[in-house]
Amino acid sequence: MRRGASVADGGSGVPRAMSLGELNRAAAELWRELAPGSVVWLTGDLGAGKTTFVQAMAAAADAEPARSPSFALVHEYSSPHGLLVHADCYRLREPAEALDLDFDGLMRQARLLLIEWPEKAGEYAPPPDAHVALAHADDPQQRLLERVK
Ligand SMILES: Nc1ncnc2c1ncn2[C@@H]1O[C@H](COP(=O)(O)OP(=O)(O)OP(=O)(O)O)[C@@H](O)[C@H]1O
Ligand SMILES: [Mg+2]
Repeated sequence: MRRGASVADGGSGVPRAMSLGELNRAAAELWRELAPGSVVWLTGDLGAGKTTFVQAMAAAADAEPARSPSFALVHEYSSPHGLLVHADCYRLREPAEALDLDFDGLMRQARLLLIEWPEKAGEYAPPPDAHVALAHADDPQQRLLERVK
């Protein structure tokens, strides 16, 4: 990959291999780019780095884990810029269970709503303003990051 490769070239469709440090920088860059109220989709196989990317965005926003969630699939981080909400849909058994997550309510509260495994929520997942796809790379210390949208 070229040095200093950016996550900001939205939808370029080119996967780039990134170390953890590069992934952290990409997450910080995306955090600066996104308007308040944005929805981010994170897709990719188990262990591809989706949660790591969410945590890196939270760190970029100076956010701290907030109240312990009543619904275990939703994690909230409070930041000086507002609430970051992370919904992990992996354990939804069928898309309709996403109704319990109340995406509309989450979107009203959240400065940024990050949805991991949005495909498990099917039609109930709010459409993304940005979509980051992560994948395993040959080097276990790296991940392929593609800005799908
Ligand atoms: N370049 C990298 N980018 C992201 N994560 C990396 C990288 N290199 C190693 N890792 C490690 O890979 C693991 C990724 O796990 P993570 O929980 O973020 O994956 P996930 O996509 O959320 O998986 P799941 O679908 O099971 O929730 C972490 O332990 C992380 O430290
Ligand atoms: Mg995860």
